[in-house]
Amino acid sequence: MKTLSNYEMRDVDVLLHPATNLAAHRKTGPLVIERGEGVYVYDSNGNQYIEGLAGLWCTALGYGNQELIEAAREQMSKLSFSHLFGGKSHEPAIELAEKLKELSPAPASKVFFTASGSEANDTQIKLTWYYNNARGKPKKKKIIGRMRGYHGVTIAAASLTGLPIFHADFDLPMARVVHADCPHHYRYAEPGETEEEFATRLAQNLDDLIQREDPETVAAFIAEPIQGAGGVIVPPRTYFEKVQEVLDRYDIRLIVDEVICGFGRTGNWFGSQTYNIKPESISFAKAITSAYVPLGGVTVSEPVYQGLVSESEKLGMFAHGFTYSGHPLACAVAVKTLEIYERTNIVGHVQQTAPVFQTRLNALADHPLVGEARGTGLIGGLELVKDKATKESFAPSEGVGAKAAAFAQDEGLICRAVGGDTIGLCPPLVIDGSVVNQAFDALTRALDKTAHWVETELGQKLGS
Ligand SMILES: Cc1ncc(COP(=O)(O)O)c(C=O)c1O
Repeated sequence: MKTLSNYEMRDVDVLLHPATNLAAHRKTGPLVIERGEGVYVYDSNGNQYIEGLAGLWCTALGYGNQELIEAAREQMSKLSFSHLFGGKSHEPAIELAEKLKELSPAPASKVFFTASGSEANDTQIKLTWYYNNARGKPKKKKIIGRMRGYHGVTIAAASLTGLPIFHADFDLPMARVVHADCPHHYRYAEPGETEEEFATRLAQNLDDLIQREDPETVAAFIAEPIQGAGGVIVPPRTYFEKVQEVLDRYDIRLIVDEVICGFGRTGNWFGSQTYNIKPESISFAKAITSAYVPLGGVTVSEPVYQGLVSESEKLGMFAHGFTYSGHPLACAVAVKTLEIYERTNIVGHVQQTAPVFQTRLNALADHPLVGEARGTGLIGGLELVKDKATKESFAPSEGVGAKAAAFAQDEGLICRAVGGDTIGLCPPLVIDGSVVNQAFDALTRALDKTAHWVETELGQKLGS
């Protein structure tokens, strides 16, 4: 067993880590990250890593961006806090909302700010309910998430999330949340079913689900363009068009969770554009500030806004909002982040770098451990399987994905196993082709080591 250093023991003594196997952590201790520069981070022993997951899919401009640091310093010196409650306002929030209205793929009349993606998705539910009460549809309240979707961890957002481990023993999901199919062709298509046929079947299943629940009770459907934390699941061709038709038939809001895909990740400003989705509203967070400061939010369409106005008039107040809804520091940094994205044409940069990234990713489909390589733009996933022909997965207890991520870390690349044994990759958007190649070289060595470990330590033969 590993002997923990004094530093590592201090962590184990005081921190409760999110999304961590707490028992294993007591034995392995933490990786203490001390500083970052560009697309690299450095641990407390001075080791350098390529940040292959952009932190948690968020540090789009990498580390140490002096313009963002200066924007934060200036705003903190001028007005370190103010809020938007009771009609107060400040310039950074106004400027940011104006910019987001211009960029949003949803028809935004107003923007509401939060400090996180979970709060944004909670807000989506509350706005939906409040709006449907305002328009005299008090029964229309159910929200449809999808299996393997990820929308955060607060009680409501975790309920939308379609990953069983985020529900188990937390007594979730809460009432009025149901889950539709996961759109993963590789895993869930029938033998011989094309992507289009699979999409048609899923849309029909969604229609059936809505009928079973009663369309008069279903208010909204929430979806990520690419399911990130559920395993980097790319939608099958024609999926969103078909789903959209079903939702329109029953007057159901389409909320697109752009928390990972927003701001360039898929090679367009938003994932909605990449997949031809016409959201009624979006949730955003993460890359809006390149994760220099926490900020999230939602767009509000004009009809929903009018509903909120009339309901708040009736009740005396629109009684929702967080202390940090529109924190001036976060808004100022977001304004600067969006300015940098535009000035440096970050979307163009992603389009230029993506072919290198996707070519290297897809080449790993031939690796004996990889069942499927999938991705778009600068996001990718490699699903590790025991048998390529049968697609048989490893048992979760074998921890093969986590082991591969640990080998990658030894090779100087930070990545993560998500949605089981899928290695998720999502580097800072500013990464260039040569570092992409270094990252995939490291990952290839890590996968080779993992395959060897599976055969020697787990004593399992890989099928081909
Ligand atoms: C798609 C998506 N939505 C929502 C969230 C939750 O955001 P937060 O962790 O800021 O609450 C995440 C976090 O990874 C996410 O990936």
